[in-house]
This record gives sequence, structure tokens and C-alpha cells, in this order.
Amino acid sequence: MSTTVHAGPGIDPLTPVLSANWDDNRAWKLTNYERRGGYDALRKAATMAPEEVTSLVKDANLRGRGGAGFPTGMKWSFVPKDNPNPTYLVVNCDESEPGTCKDMPLLMASPHTLVEGVVIASYAIKAKVAFIYVRGEVLHIIRRLQQAVREAYSAGYIGRDILGTGYDLDVVVHAGAGAYICGEETALLDSLEGRRGQPRLRPPFPAVAGLYASPTVINNAESIASVPAVVANGRDWFKAMGTEKSDGFTLYSLSGHVANPGQFEAPMGVTLRSLLDMSGGMRAGHRLKFFTPGGSSTPILTGDDIDLPLDYETMAANGTILGTKALQCFDETTSVVRATLRWIEFYKHESCGKCTPCREGTWWLVQMLRKIEAGQGEPGDVDKLLDVNENIGGRSFCALADGAVGCIRGAVKHFREEFEAGCHGTPAWELLPYDRSAI
Ligand code: NAI
Repeated sequence: MSTTVHAGPGIDPLTPVLSANWDDNRAWKLTNYERRGGYDALRKAATMAPEEVTSLVKDANLRGRGGAGFPTGMKWSFVPKDNPNPTYLVVNCDESEPGTCKDMPLLMASPHTLVEGVVIASYAIKAKVAFIYVRGEVLHIIRRLQQAVREAYSAGYIGRDILGTGYDLDVVVHAGAGAYICGEETALLDSLEGRRGQPRLRPPFPAVAGLYASPTVINNAESIASVPAVVANGRDWFKAMGTEKSDGFTLYSLSGHVANPGQFEAPMGVTLRSLLDMSGGMRAGHRLKFFTPGGSSTPILTGDDIDLPLDYETMAANGTILGTKALQCFDETTSVVRATLRWIEFYKHESCGKCTPCREGTWWLVQMLRKIEAGQGEPGDVDKLLDVNENIGGRSFCALADGAVGCIRGAVKHFREEFEAGCHGTPAWELLPYDRSAI
């Protein structure tokens, strides 16, 4: 299997795509978006049959950018042809995975990229209503999206008889109330229906029975925002970027102990080393100890993995997942035990409580990690921690608990000695290379 990146970040004339307008501080206005070719992809899509648009996105192999990497066009093609109920499009803008900050800057800078993608995707799946579900805390982004939708209505890109095609679409921007679980697609649907956001058992998958039990395609914001470029430039252009099975461009987020945190657009399969070269490296005088490839739910990798291509296949072959491409980078001043504890505290706090393995399991993981962090664990506690962990994995309603499980699995796999030290009287902070006399 080839994992060749067709061109390096920053030097590839094909990218940036999603972040191309971010240096224009008024890129969010419709007139500015149109001046740069905005809504030309919709005009092109309007000349195609809906099935042709779906086939194009399927052939391009645009994989879901929300974390799971499920092929976008394939998801669209799952919508039943003969269902008497309406079909809905729902865009998941509830970005909340720790370390993940790619959708929000995209929506802030260029909301029409998403709106144009919403209209094209809705046309492809023959939806008459689309919902953009945004996390409640980001009020400025909600307002910006609402304004973009209003502008698109006025210009005839949304509403009745769009571009003379006879196709009608309404778009609703819906604000969540700020719960991590509502980013899980079925909890999001419950929330959208006005209920408490809790996951539903799958199958049936939303593509068959989702919002109001009707066929519903749920895609991540970045996936939908990538659609106009795919439609405008075609399958071959998209597939010329990335690796053999992870095609195209994407947004990586860099955070933690780096000189310049932020979002970096690059072809799929770029390495962390290239991203760090592009962004100014780790903070001065420090070295990379470990990092998450795609947010805290993706098992960590170590500084030795800095040259691995960041694509779906390579990450799977190395015991982790690409996830949201949120690279949280930690240097040697970080305790792996403490970082893991912080993440698991987050999952415990955000567990919706619907299923027992997640509700009780994440609570137990926190208790055990707190003891280990304080150096008060007992010999054998690391195995006990792993045992509890593996009894949670795969037994919960949704991926929240699996995220916590992956987090512990990766940390213990690579830094077991730090966990063992906490079971033999050494608190986590005593392992760190501080000059203690200076504290
Ligand atoms: P999943 O793999 O279960 O599903 C992915 C998508 O494919 C879903 O939309 C699902 O409905 C669809 N799908 C899968 N099999 C299908 C089938 N047979 N028929 C029809 N549709 C099918 O993953 P899930 O639970 O949606 O997402 C988990 C990922 O989300 C994690 O790996 C994590 O990286 C990411 N995540 C992202 C967050 C964010 O803030 N963006 C927050 C937390 C997790």
C-alpha cells in the first residue's frame, strides 16, 4: 500500500482550499465569497442530476472529516429510494473533542463554504430541509452562520426554485445547549427533536431512520464544506492529493507545547514533522514526548512516530485512529498519567449516563487514575485499570466510552512505566524533569 503524499504542505499548488480565504477578514460576506468563485460549484451541481453529484463525491472518496472517516458519498447513497418520509440533511457543527478546533475557525472565516456545501449535498440527497446544528457556546459563529443563511436566501441560493432548477430547500441553523454527547450523531438527533440528548442504538442508522424517524444524512461541517471544491474541480483533482486510500486535503489542528498552535491545511498523509516545520516546531528548548493524532479519544503516539503519515490506514496500522486530526503535542515536562487523568475526568463529566459501562466505568477509571497519579496505587493496579478499561470498550451505546478506553490503552501501551511508578510509591510529578530546587 502506498502512503505517498503527493505534495508537501504549503508548497502544493492545489492547497489551501478550505482555508484559502482566511486571510481576508471579510471572507464571510457573500459578495466577497462570490468574487472568489463562491456558489459556482452550486451552479455546476444544478446542471447535474442529483445521483450524478452523489456519484462524483463517492468516486472522489471524500471521507468523513468528523473523526470516523466514513465515505461521504456512500453515506448519501444509503438513503432509501422508496421511503415515503421526507429526507433530511443535518450538519454536525458540535465540535467538542478535546484538542479539536478546525470546524469553528472554518465557519467563522468562511461560513458560505459550508452553506454552499449544504445546498449541494441537500440537492444530491433530495432533501427539502437541512439543519446546521452548532454547539451552543459559540454564539458568534451561530450569528455568522445565520447571517450567511439569510444572505443565501436573499441571493436565491436557498429557498424556492433554486437557480431555476425547480428545487426547493430550507436551511435552519440550530444552536445546541453545549453538551459533548450532542456531537454524537444520534444524541444530536434527539437534541434536535427537543429531547434530552442521549444516543440511540444503531442500527437503524440515521441514513435509514434518523430525524423524526425519517432518512437523515448527518455529515461533519468540514466534510460538507469540502463538497463545493470537489464538485467544482472534479474527482481527479481531489484524488491527486493525499494517499492511496485517504484522498484530498484536510485541516489539521496543532495545539499544546508548540510554538504556534493553529489550523494547518495539508494533503492527507502529511507527517507531524512537516506540520511542525510549517508551524515553528515545539516550544523552544523542548522535545516532543507524545501526541494525539486526532483528539483525546485517539490512542496517543510518541515522539518516535513523528514521521508517520497522518492518514486513516497508517494510523490504524499503528494501533490508533486519525480521528479529528487534532494533534495535541506534549513535551517532556508532561506527565502521561496526569494528562490521561484529565482526559478521563472530561469523559466522566460528559458521559450522559444512559448506559452503565460508560456511566460507572468512567467513574471507576477516574478513581484509579487519581490514586496512581498521587503515587498511592498498589502493585497490580495497572492490570486492574486495563481490565476495567477493556470491560467498558465495545459495551456502550456510543463512541464516548470507546474514546476513554482508547485514551488509556494508548497511554499505558507507550508509558506503562509511569503508571507502574504510581503503584510503587512515586507520584506522577516526581517523574518530571524539573529542577525541584527552583520550585
Ligand atoms: P461510526 O464509525 O460508528 O459511524 C460513522 C458514520 O458512518 C456515522 O454517520 C454512521 O451513521 C455511518 N455508518 C456507519 N456504518 C453504517 C452503516 N452500516 N449504514 C449506514 N451508515 C453507517 O462513528 P461515530 O460514532 O459516528 O464517530 C466516532 C468518531 O467521532 C470517533 O472516532 C472520534 O474520532 C470522532 N469524534 C469527533 C468529535 C468531534 O468533536 N468532531 C467528538 C467525539 C468523537
